[in-house]
Amino acid sequence: MARVLNAHVKGALAERIRYYHELGIYDFYRREVMTTAPALPPASGSPAPTAEETTSRARARHAMDENVVQAAAEPDMIDPVQALKIIRQDLGDCTRCGLHKQGRKQIVFGVGNPRAELMFIGEAPGADEDQQGEPFVGRAGQLLNNMIKAMGLEREQVYIANIIKCRPPFNRTPEREECETCSPFLMRQIAVIAPKVVVALGAVAAKTLLSINSSMSDLRGRWYDFRGTKLAVTYHPAFLLRDPRQKKEAWKDLQMVMKELNLAPPTRGAE
Ligand code: URA
Repeated sequence: MARVLNAHVKGALAERIRYYHELGIYDFYRREVMTTAPALPPASGSPAPTAEETTSRARARHAMDENVVQAAAEPDMIDPVQALKIIRQDLGDCTRCGLHKQGRKQIVFGVGNPRAELMFIGEAPGADEDQQGEPFVGRAGQLLNNMIKAMGLEREQVYIANIIKCRPPFNRTPEREECETCSPFLMRQIAVIAPKVVVALGAVAAKTLLSINSSMSDLRGRWYDFRGTKLAVTYHPAFLLRDPRQKKEAWKDLQMVMKELNLAPPTRGAE
């Protein structure tokens, strides 16, 4: 049966679709149920997709479709705790991309204050996160905690999530399709939490959120408008562990964020 949408939901839906267009995603449509995967015409010169690729693309579209309709109403929900629960429920024991059968132990949804003013977004769970079900709990997480502390905040005050919610095998970089399938759930989380500032940690997060293919040095050091929310880019903590000389550059990025949020670093002795 056709669903009647009120003017507000229609507006929110249009806004969401505009946003997906900005991300370079045009190819989605509404469906009530997923039946069999439709065949996609191959791009000229490229080989026809395999049955598995076709199914996975159809799933990505389906996830987007589900999410577009759901997400339109969520930001209006009064209780972000409840709204986040609904998103988690919708995610279920997700099998929308291939990662569910590539060794993931559990889905790593996101953690922190559902009303956070500041949200950090990383790339994907690693081994520790996969084990514990919480983002940034390994060595990179320890450094992120220190970065948060240096900003005068506690980890519990911010919200932390990743572009994708399942660990890729051998911690490889997430594939585009995995990001496309999973990130609509993250978009819903961001819309519900409605932070004042989003910080993208590293190139995968920055490029996925902004749909810009630039180097980290070009991406850092300025503000972006992310659907009406201010977004800054800084180095991924795992990169900073490999190249600690860049920490002073990351600190500049965080100071820009602190200024925006009127935060002062903790005074010595108060730690
Ligand atoms: N790296 C990430 O990008 N995310 C995590 O949760 C952990 C490490």
